[in-house]
Amino acid sequence: MLQKFDKRNKNLKIYVNGAVVDRHEAKVSVFDSVVQGGDAVWEGLRLYKEGIFCLERHLRRLQDSAHAMAFKDIPTNDEIKAKIVETLNANNMEEDVHIRLTLTRGEKITSGMDPRLNSMGLNLIIVPEYKPPVYDNEKGITLFTSTIRRNSPMHVDSKIHHNNLINNILAKIQANVAGKDAALMLDAYGYASELNGTNLFMVRDGKLYTPHADACLHGITRGLIIELAAETGIACIEKNISLTELYAADGVFCTGTMGELTPIVEIDGRKIARETDIFDRLITAFDGKKEIYCTPIL
Ligand SMILES: Cc1ncc(COP(=O)(O)O)c(C=O)c1O
Repeated sequence: MLQKFDKRNKNLKIYVNGAVVDRHEAKVSVFDSVVQGGDAVWEGLRLYKEGIFCLERHLRRLQDSAHAMAFKDIPTNDEIKAKIVETLNANNMEEDVHIRLTLTRGEKITSGMDPRLNSMGLNLIIVPEYKPPVYDNEKGITLFTSTIRRNSPMHVDSKIHHNNLINNILAKIQANVAGKDAALMLDAYGYASELNGTNLFMVRDGKLYTPHADACLHGITRGLIIELAAETGIACIEKNISLTELYAADGVFCTGTMGELTPIVEIDGRKIARETDIFDRLITAFDGKKEIYCTPIL
């Protein structure tokens, strides 16, 4: 599904280089680390009318990623929150918004890879856009299994939510060429890891399964679904899942801040069964938690 330009985003205000500016003035230097080497970490947040969903969890993952990248003088969660609120208020935004939060290593004194060339501090970028969940969650989506493997800790640890997204972009290109909505990515052993931008779940014989978070992002929505399954009395097991198991599942769905919970209706030309009992219970539990998990924007 190709996203389209949303006219509500024509006059956005963006936070970058320490100030809120108009969309067309929101730029980073060609010497910024994100341009030089994708040297940045990021989070995707969603603003519902109740507030920002799972804000604390997203900020914790951002802090962990920035720490793993040995960023210096990382802004505190309170400082980041204050800038998010300032940016949302500048846009008069209250709901139906996706926020792309990026923290780059900042500007370099000259081009190069070495983080010691960074002497100007980190650059926080806040891009809030009107963006409803990106998939048609009634219709579901189709998948193509990519030949591009998802990183394990052997290479770039997928526990770092960094801006080097080439791995996933190459997989998405393959899905596009195949005419499917998203790419299914395998780990180094050939087990399913995740989609190019969302996590994966499978239902079989009344139980929920999801791949170990070894070669996939430890998604916030994924974590919440595992918790909600426990609260709702649904057994959820983390295990290696092969393609054959996915093809024969009673239901498969993906999770993420961008699309929430999305049924998968086809994988590699195989029709996937549409289990509804567990899926609907999880959706109800997820919707019921929105208020509790949202941090209001005041
Ligand atoms: C590769 C990948 N997998 C999964 C997700 C979903 O994670 P979350 O539920 O935290 O949005 C994302 C979101 O950024 C992602 O980039």
